[in-house]
Amino acid sequence: MVHLRHNAALAAILTLTPSASAADCTRDGLLSAAHSYLAAQTAGKPSTLLLSSNFTYQQNNKVSAIASGLLSTAYPIALNRSTADTTACASYTMWISTAGAKPFVVSTQIRHANNDTSSIAMIDTVSATTGDLFFDAKKTLGYIQKEDWTDIPVGKRPSRELLKKVGDGYLDMWTDAKAADSIPWGTECERVEGSQYTNPCGKTLPRGGSKKNNGLRRYVIDEVMGSVDVLCQFDSLGAWPDSHEVRVVDGKVKYVHTVTNMRGVGT
Ligand SMILES: *[C@@H]1O[C@H](CO)[C@@H](O)[C@H](O)[C@H]1NC(C)=O
Ligand SMILES: *[C@@H]1O[C@H](CO)[C@@H](O)[C@H](O)[C@H]1NC(C)=O
Ligand SMILES: *[C@@H]1O[C@H](CO)[C@@H](O)[C@H](O)[C@H]1NC(C)=O
Repeated sequence: MVHLRHNAALAAILTLTPSASAADCTRDGLLSAAHSYLAAQTAGKPSTLLLSSNFTYQQNNKVSAIASGLLSTAYPIALNRSTADTTACASYTMWISTAGAKPFVVSTQIRHANNDTSSIAMIDTVSATTGDLFFDAKKTLGYIQKEDWTDIPVGKRPSRELLKKVGDGYLDMWTDAKAADSIPWGTECERVEGSQYTNPCGKTLPRGGSKKNNGLRRYVIDEVMGSVDVLCQFDSLGAWPDSHEVRVVDGKVKYVHTVTNMRGVGT
């Protein structure tokens, strides 16, 4: 349900979703909310966001105060990309900042309650900066800028089930020796882990070895983009807040991106 706090909130709701009803979760509504998040981040003003009364902010797998989180500092955004999950009523946004006080590569899932994209129920962020796994924002930006993220044509879109299976299969490789072979690797496919680049992406894969399953998995699945993003805690290697995003094109893995926070602190 929509919670009106003041007139500015009302005006923004009308701009965000002119025609959506609360009954269905629309792609446009999800992407508008994701854009409002990016605008708030660019301005360093979380107060501009339309948050539901039961809003939760989570940063690096810890519930915390949005007012003192990453959103409270303005970062110039060099690149952003969002995907939309109309079934879960959630979106995924990644953004890269190379020019601010601190470079960042950030993965954020935004969730909405009751299919109502005019207010945000949860912002769930994993952020990486200097000192994190293979961190180099400029290098990452260079790889990601060259990628093709056009919509997958109707009839060629991977199913939700396949995307979930690929996302889970990927995170299971560290604990399940057979998981790597369950994934349909593409021959022309790129893996960008932090700023570490591997092509083809199915090269040098883990085959079990850890007893700790990568846990706390949260999914955003977008059949139109052929992508799944899973936020998790990377327990197999060290309880790190982590994002793994995989894109499937023509039934095969095309891109893999990881954002991993190894510092275990607020931002
Ligand atoms: C996000 O990226 C789009 C292009 O993909 C751009 O038009 C928009 O201005 C960007 N938003 C921000 C806040 O940088
Ligand atoms: C409030 O949010 C929490 C955490 O997301 C959720 O578990 C709970 O069910 C929500 N409560 C209501 C009344 O929506
Ligand atoms: C949200 O929308 C989906 C698909 O449009 C529908 O199946 C579901 O029942 C809706 N949920 C609510 C809480 O309205």
